[in-house]
Amino acid sequence: MARFQLPTLLLLIATVPLISALHDLAGDFLRLPSQASTFLHDNNEGTRWAILIAGSNGYWNYRHQSDVCHAYQVLRKGGLKEENIIVFMYDDIAYDEENPHPGVIINSPNGENVYKGVPKDYTGEDVTVGNFFAALLGNKSALTGGSGKVVDSGPNDHIFVYYSDHGGPGVLGMPTSPYMYASDLIEVLKIKHAAGTYKSLVFYLEACESGSIFEGLLPEGLNIYATTAANAEESSWGTYCPGENPSPPPEYGTCLGDLYSVAWMEDSDKHNLQTETLHQQYELVKERTSNGNSNYGSHVMQYGDIELSRDSLFLYLGSNPSNENFTFVGRNSLVPPSKAINQRDADLIHFWDKFRKAPQGSPRKIAAEKQVLEAMSHRLHIDDSIKLIGKLLFGMKKGPEVLTSVRPAGQPLVDDWDCLKTLVRTFETYCGSLSQYGMKHMRSFANFCNAGIHREHMAEASAQACTNIPVNPWSSLHSGFSA
Ligand SMILES: *[C@@H]1O[C@H](CO)[C@@H](O)[C@H](O)[C@H]1NC(C)=O
Ligand SMILES: *[C@@H]1O[C@H](CO)[C@@H](O)[C@H](O)[C@H]1NC(C)=O
Repeated sequence: MARFQLPTLLLLIATVPLISALHDLAGDFLRLPSQASTFLHDNNEGTRWAILIAGSNGYWNYRHQSDVCHAYQVLRKGGLKEENIIVFMYDDIAYDEENPHPGVIINSPNGENVYKGVPKDYTGEDVTVGNFFAALLGNKSALTGGSGKVVDSGPNDHIFVYYSDHGGPGVLGMPTSPYMYASDLIEVLKIKHAAGTYKSLVFYLEACESGSIFEGLLPEGLNIYATTAANAEESSWGTYCPGENPSPPPEYGTCLGDLYSVAWMEDSDKHNLQTETLHQQYELVKERTSNGNSNYGSHVMQYGDIELSRDSLFLYLGSNPSNENFTFVGRNSLVPPSKAINQRDADLIHFWDKFRKAPQGSPRKIAAEKQVLEAMSHRLHIDDSIKLIGKLLFGMKKGPEVLTSVRPAGQPLVDDWDCLKTLVRTFETYCGSLSQYGMKHMRSFANFCNAGIHREHMAEASAQACTNIPVNPWSSLHSGFSA
């Protein structure tokens, strides 16, 4: 045996440049034999680390925490250790009174319980931007609350970050205040890179307008490869929602997952990840998430050091040994759903489902009706106020144009992020919280900044547009400003 190994080895080394060249020509359609890829990676594998974060709470947002629990199972089956996976989730779903199966969370209609064994590192009010950044940077002294687990990584290590939530242009939601702004996230990634505490980092991001988090902001050379569920201007989509096919079991009444998220995870559940590259998964997830280019889909994007996508998924996610014979076949074995629900409407779907099913005149029906009305009145108030502020600042004709204009691809949303945050706080002072729905208007605030609007102009216009803050939990500022 030993006599055959040396020539094989030499052949392998000799063909490496050729293989790279072919990759350049042919994308990633060329597949290395699994032994070869194991050999190539074994020497510098380092430790695999992961941070998983669900940025929402509430049963109507079931899917984000469900996505994150599922991701945890993928990584554990792949061989990552619990001590290397840091989970951020509010943890109010498994035992919510609406959950028909207490203590169980599923991520697909016939899925297994993905809640089992998920560590409670950062839950409830400890799911904060500050703790997420501290955990990623491995800075224990910057933590407040939580398990104290951080990414204590070294220069040979690989880091995987997965985030699932609502978002808006330049912003990602959190179950606490403030939300996460793209500029702050990019800054933290730069600090992490400068600390020299990873070899490469992969970021998978599910949120509306998620492309805007990296577009024109994430430079090359940080050894970071990111993919996002949507481009910078569109929503991302919930899936396995009531009324869809396939739909959740009828007792659920909420979406079980998100389209991009279940696409990468259901692919990872099946395949031998030693032989599948990040690029191959990107192509597959892109196809499934575009949903046949229907109105119920979004454009998966990639950012940063794209050449990292030649790495095998194994480097980041490990691989489930029982999948060793399920190699990547280059086409979708997974059927896209018949339709999907815009992330921003998923809460209404839940309230409506609850209303529809509750017996006539029951307290439950009355409560559901109140929830629908409160959510709708918040939306109307936010939409109308911003439209009016646009007109007050720029006139009847130009106002609507400024609100919706989009910078060319490759440019960041805004030049002055402090201005963006200031205008958000000013708006919220007079008009109430933006909340998860209101994040969709972040581009309008950005455009105000890009047009030179200052806090004083914004305060004046906001005071004129909003004579009071509507009384409903969405508009309430009880948990603080979102910026
Ligand atoms: C860790 O966080 C603390 C508190 O925010 C800060 O003072 C310190 O500089 C940070 N340390 C490093 C190495 O970044
Ligand atoms: C994969 O296939 C090989 C060869 O048929 C077999 O020996 C091995 O047990 C299979 N692995 C799994 C996990 O089924």
